[in-house]
Amino acid sequence: MSNPHPINPLAAELNERLEKSAPEVLSMLSEYGRRAYFPKGILSQSAEAKEKAHRFNATIGIATEDGAPMFLPSLQSHLAELEPKDVYPYAPPAGRPGLRDRWREKIAAENPSLEGKRFGQPITTSAITHGLSLAAELFVDPGDVLLLPDKLWGNYRLCFENHQGAQIDTFPFFKDGGFNIDGFSAALEKSAEGREKLIVLLNFPNNPTGYMPSVAEGDAIVEALVAQAERGTNLVVLTDDAYFGLFFHLGGESMTESLFGKLANRHPRILAVKLDGATKELFVWGLRCGFITFGPGNAETADEVCEVLDAKTRGLIRAGVSNVPHLSQTLVQLALEAPEIDAEREAKCLTLCERATQVYEVANAPRFAESWSVYPFNSGYFMLIEVKGVEAERLRVHLLDKYGVGLIATGKHDLRVAFSCLEAGDVEALFEIVHEAIQELV
Ligand SMILES: Cc1ncc(COP(=O)(O)O)c(C=O)c1O
Repeated sequence: MSNPHPINPLAAELNERLEKSAPEVLSMLSEYGRRAYFPKGILSQSAEAKEKAHRFNATIGIATEDGAPMFLPSLQSHLAELEPKDVYPYAPPAGRPGLRDRWREKIAAENPSLEGKRFGQPITTSAITHGLSLAAELFVDPGDVLLLPDKLWGNYRLCFENHQGAQIDTFPFFKDGGFNIDGFSAALEKSAEGREKLIVLLNFPNNPTGYMPSVAEGDAIVEALVAQAERGTNLVVLTDDAYFGLFFHLGGESMTESLFGKLANRHPRILAVKLDGATKELFVWGLRCGFITFGPGNAETADEVCEVLDAKTRGLIRAGVSNVPHLSQTLVQLALEAPEIDAEREAKCLTLCERATQVYEVANAPRFAESWSVYPFNSGYFMLIEVKGVEAERLRVHLLDKYGVGLIATGKHDLRVAFSCLEAGDVEALFEIVHEAIQELV
């Protein structure tokens, strides 16, 4: 019987390179990850032609006119300041080179632990969801275990469990008002039992809790991962940094950098994979612009590993969405290059911080203690309460029907409040209503 999934010689070549440079990383790949390669097809031939075909370049499937992409004035009239070449042609599968450079500079500047470390060029994705999905394709086979805290963004289940067939293991997120290091270490050991590889997903600042660990907790998380790697498990550690930068330090100082920086080049059996994006950080959710960046464990072979993973990821992108919208990439690149961007981001961060501070004070007021307890939060877009005496879903429906208030039930007793879309002046009224609604139901 013939193999239904033969390995293309180009994939075999990439795998051989990994075998030589980082066999641990090769063994982290899924079956599809092993089969993945970037073809020498239309795209690489037209890339060559772009450089050399000075006379006629009839390679790529866009239409041109007078040496520029063809376009319709009805579209261009809305984009008067942009050149058609930065809007209409396909972007390369890994993204606009200038955008990738700017995002890498941003990651390096915002994560001092990366100084002197070797990590890959960010690959542009159709926002973070797509990046997560690429990571799942690269590293997850049916039955592989994905370990994450028990407060999680529900879409992980669709992506990793439902689509890719992962087994999701969770551990209790909090202990004694902070991140549950003991629970995490124990879960790492237990989930890795009898397995060569484990995928770990950490999302800080977290959705739904809004929690960012302290520096000491961050270091302890890294040490727990290193200890597990020392026990012989190959660890793919995905850091979902969707809400990066929105650090408000409520109730104490938190970390202000991604665990990715501390994990890159840390241990040969750890591959750090950073998922982040402009969606939340630059407030451009619908532009669908994100990144996947690899931080191999061994600095000496990191460049080689990143080159191979880049090629494989480009192959996956080509197979899935072909490439990410060019207009979004141009807009994000221009924003990153604008001298005002830091001040603008800071101003928005301050607005969210004011709301978060208000929520922190109001939600923790003693008069509400009979209705809920507040899970630790200090960052991001969200906070979570544990409702007392009534199930969250019943409360959610009651709040909607009677009060016209929309919140999200994320667990049996957990109700998520997105303060990102609440004005500071409305915070108190909202929590008063939630309190009243709970008391009506208990
Ligand atoms: C933790 C987390 N990761 C990823 C995403 C998806 O982000 P994007 O819009 O960039 O796909 C979200 C969005 O809600 C999220 O909360």
